[in-house]
Amino acid sequence: MRPNPAPDSAGLVHLSAAGVSVVLDCRGDRFPSIVHWGDALGDLSAERLAGLARAVAPQPIGFSADTPVRVSLLPEQSAGWLGHPGLAGHRDGRHWSSAFLLTGVARDRADGVRLEAADPVAGLDLAVEIELDPSGVLRARARLTSTGDGVYWLEHLTLFLPVPAEATELLDFTGHHLRERSPQRTAFTHGLRVRENRTGRTGYDSAYVLCAGAAGFANRRGRVWGVHTAFSGGSRTVAERDYHGHSALGGGELLLPGEVGLARGESYTTPWLYASFGADGLDELAGRFHTLLRSRPHHPATPRPVVVNTWEAVYFDHDLTRLTALARAAAEVGAERFVLDDGWFGSRRDDTSGLGDWTVSPDVWPDGLGPLIDVVRGLGMEFGLWVEPEMISPDSDLARAHPDWMMAAGDRLPPAARSQQVLDLHNPAAYAHVRDRLDALLREHDIAYLKWDHNRDLVDAGHPATGRAGVHDQTLAVYRLLDELRAAHPGVEIESCSSGGGRVDLEILARTDRVWASDCIDAHERVPIQRWTSLLVPLELIGSHVGAPRAHTTQRELPLDVRAGTAIWGHLGIEWDLTRASPAELARLAEWVALYREVRGLLHSGTLVHGDVADPAYELTGVVAADGSDALYALIATATSENYPPGTVALPGLDPDRTYAVRPQPPGDLPDGNAAAWGAALPWCAPGGVDLPGRVLGTSGLRLPVLYPDRVMLVRATAAERGGRGTGSR
Ligand code: DGJ
Repeated sequence: MRPNPAPDSAGLVHLSAAGVSVVLDCRGDRFPSIVHWGDALGDLSAERLAGLARAVAPQPIGFSADTPVRVSLLPEQSAGWLGHPGLAGHRDGRHWSSAFLLTGVARDRADGVRLEAADPVAGLDLAVEIELDPSGVLRARARLTSTGDGVYWLEHLTLFLPVPAEATELLDFTGHHLRERSPQRTAFTHGLRVRENRTGRTGYDSAYVLCAGAAGFANRRGRVWGVHTAFSGGSRTVAERDYHGHSALGGGELLLPGEVGLARGESYTTPWLYASFGADGLDELAGRFHTLLRSRPHHPATPRPVVVNTWEAVYFDHDLTRLTALARAAAEVGAERFVLDDGWFGSRRDDTSGLGDWTVSPDVWPDGLGPLIDVVRGLGMEFGLWVEPEMISPDSDLARAHPDWMMAAGDRLPPAARSQQVLDLHNPAAYAHVRDRLDALLREHDIAYLKWDHNRDLVDAGHPATGRAGVHDQTLAVYRLLDELRAAHPGVEIESCSSGGGRVDLEILARTDRVWASDCIDAHERVPIQRWTSLLVPLELIGSHVGAPRAHTTQRELPLDVRAGTAIWGHLGIEWDLTRASPAELARLAEWVALYREVRGLLHSGTLVHGDVADPAYELTGVVAADGSDALYALIATATSENYPPGTVALPGLDPDRTYAVRPQPPGDLPDGNAAAWGAALPWCAPGGVDLPGRVLGTSGLRLPVLYPDRVMLVRATAAERGGRGTGSR
């Protein structure tokens, strides 16, 4: 028995936005496929769309399926697909292979389409939403509903987007604590690349954005397609290429055994799979994600305040006198938000106890947090507080009262990590307890900001009452908790931190205002971490702090100018015991804070660009104002160059038809002492700089400065009033 197929008139659907086209082939009765995702195709009539589909349709080949197979959004064996299936599951061993027939194609919104399909034999209904945002970012998700008897046990539901044969190289990410989002490139050869995340959180080493592109694709060249599985629990992101000439990227949730069993009428919804495209490399692909994020109704609209965070300044040494001195020093250099990190509650004098006891510790705060908050507010700063709501220390009053609130797969606790366990938020009583404690804290104190931490992987993480796997439920419960608290306290901003940058994804960002990219604030290590985090996330959402002269996590010593000159490329903070800084250091830091406050409007609204610098010792990052009137670049020397002096670099992103005054931007490094002592000044850095059209700067470029390794030089390019001269000085 089959339902009526969708009428052919549903036909080919063309979505187009911001230079991107997506064409879906919804003809016939099988689940639709995408016949084009990439460059905008312009206005195409129904006839031309049919021509496009015909032009790219594969040739039937011998000893293979009689009807050529396409990668549908949900590839199925029943349609001849031999690769990774879109759906895996069964009903007591039966109905393991689906055969969805299209029952509806709804165009109820201009930028999207909703596909409905049913497999009455397997007893499954499928609805897939596909949207092309005005930014050109495509996103898709599916809802699977059981309509049959018994329980349908879902193993995974993975949506696929085809990429053209031209995409022969892959880029994705790995990493670990202190080294998040480390890029890795491989050839896109025949076979399946599966990036599984089983950490129960987004993960330091998640695929992040899995990109496939033309050989040699780079920051500003080569076509490139990328997908991001937006989920903060288990995930699977895949790339597959086969000898039939199919190439596709896909993603979905990684479900643990038995996590999703659907009785009749019950549904499961996948995470959103986000997908972006760059006709000219990664900057364009990233720019679409940034535009998407910036269009969110709750995207921060106020200038991103300079944060001072107490963690690396005092760790667990909470003391009103000491923290008052830190707050005063921070306010002096221009900080605007003071965040009290771990150690203020329960028995939490180190990281072995107290999680779950979310009441202010009378041992360290005998008069509560009020006196510190008063100091902070009196200095004109906002107050922020660290919490880790999803966790519980076995050594806590909460665990002693409710040992059955710790996630466990059976009669054993999971191996401890950082001496802690995970609070089972699927348990309504545990959920209500933590929600009410957080709600009370926010009601009782003048708190503008929560640093929401999550410091262990979820391993062996089940619901203790049943022993069933619980990562899926836990992840959805965390989303619910964040949603409830945000609704109750709409003015409070929330940062997503997870032992550094272990939870950076678009679903957590749907309910948070900042991500902490890494616990490593050594500027040398931080440059690539921030560069690659910004492939998905715009600078205003990436926490980025100036640390102590000797980095705590690497012991590398770096001058203040490079620590600050790299930290301003994000949402700036300070994580350094300023009471130990010299007057000269404080004065210089104040200059950097002043620069950040001057340029944050540009950094947090402009277009992020990166150079394809031929010299591997240099990196170039910049932001160009949306109207092309202003730009700030960082020339970063990460090593010694094999060229002395080094060559030239193009300044990307400028308006080719406008003239820019190009000057070094103080404070910060100028071409290093070697040049001053042994050579002459770099000509364009001399007073007067250079005034040149964007076209010249974007092609011929600028001579790179000689810099010591681990130094940053900032360059400002200011457009002349149209028809006039540049407005830069110095
Ligand atoms: C891990 C975070 O990444 C740090 O910034 C800090 O908040 C510690 N947790 C506190 O325990």
